[in-house]
Amino acid sequence: LSSAPPLQLGERYFQLYPEETDPVWGNPCDDQRHQRIWSKNKTCDQLPRFLVIGPQKTGTTALYTFLSLHPAISSNLPSPDTFEEIQFFNGKNYYRGLDWYMSFFPATKNESSRYLFEKSATYFDGELVPRRAHALLPKAKLITILLSPARRAYSWYQHTKVHGDITAKNYSFHSVITATDTAPKALRDLRNRCLNPGKYAQHLERWLSYYPAQQLHIIDGEQLRQNPVETLHELQRFLKINPTFNYSTHLRYDPKKGFFCQVTNEDRTKCLGKSKGRQYPPMEDKSYKFLQRYYLSHNTALVKLLKRLGSRAIPQWLKDDLTDTV
Ligand code: A3P
Repeated sequence: LSSAPPLQLGERYFQLYPEETDPVWGNPCDDQRHQRIWSKNKTCDQLPRFLVIGPQKTGTTALYTFLSLHPAISSNLPSPDTFEEIQFFNGKNYYRGLDWYMSFFPATKNESSRYLFEKSATYFDGELVPRRAHALLPKAKLITILLSPARRAYSWYQHTKVHGDITAKNYSFHSVITATDTAPKALRDLRNRCLNPGKYAQHLERWLSYYPAQQLHIIDGEQLRQNPVETLHELQRFLKINPTFNYSTHLRYDPKKGFFCQVTNEDRTKCLGKSKGRQYPPMEDKSYKFLQRYYLSHNTALVKLLKRLGSRAIPQWLKDDLTDTV
């Protein structure tokens, strides 16, 4: 039996197990040996109990804001780079490690009665996210919001255009979604970012290959928009939060904004900023028709998936998207 200095030993180890060079953070509390060598200042209560996983442009900020009004629910601290989203499980932040992630969830008293959560809308379609999230938070509940993938794509396009994306400014929505694989790279990239998150069934199946279906809650984005009080009531039931917080006195429809907003006093409301619920012209009919066809197989798979998951009703937008596609 022979050994080597730690660095050499480390190098040899990763030569033998190259697949382990990419870390996957586990939960120290799932293994007594890890827990024993962990700092006394750290607790597993400092991790979220549920994740709002997106996708982008489905009403995730509204849901995040409404959840933050709940006295028993706390969100993460804001990030200096990505604001209310931590974006840990996707992208480079993952390599900053568990301490970095946990620093967004400071320990306070009454931990066990508190429902910590985080919302990062980019988690939904991130290739590695379900695996990583499950390794750290296998018991977490997952909340996703779905609305017409065609409308979601259009909203995303409008969002990138307002943010000064040159390609979105130079090309119409129709040219973006119909771009072929011979189009310039920037155009193909924008097309993919518009279209790919909307392949809902495909992304949900990836989550479901790690998490049991009972841990997943799907919100109809149209319901969230039109009836947030009932949507949040159902969500609290799913999360088993008792007593239920009555949102009907905290949210009110604001005719000027055209959305539900937070009640601040009898005749005042606080709505989301102008980047949420933007005014833009309706989608051209030819683009909607194109997207109906584009998403046909994905939407058909979604209907099957929802039935398998025991959904009582298929969302109206899904029925509409599947109507007259020939
Ligand atoms: P638009 O700005 O295209 O209308 P996200 O927060 O995930 O980026 O989603 C933004 C979308 O949330 C908005 O898209 C808007 O339609 C929707 N939304 C749902 N409820 C809302 C609310 N109460 N206030 C503002 N936007 C809301």
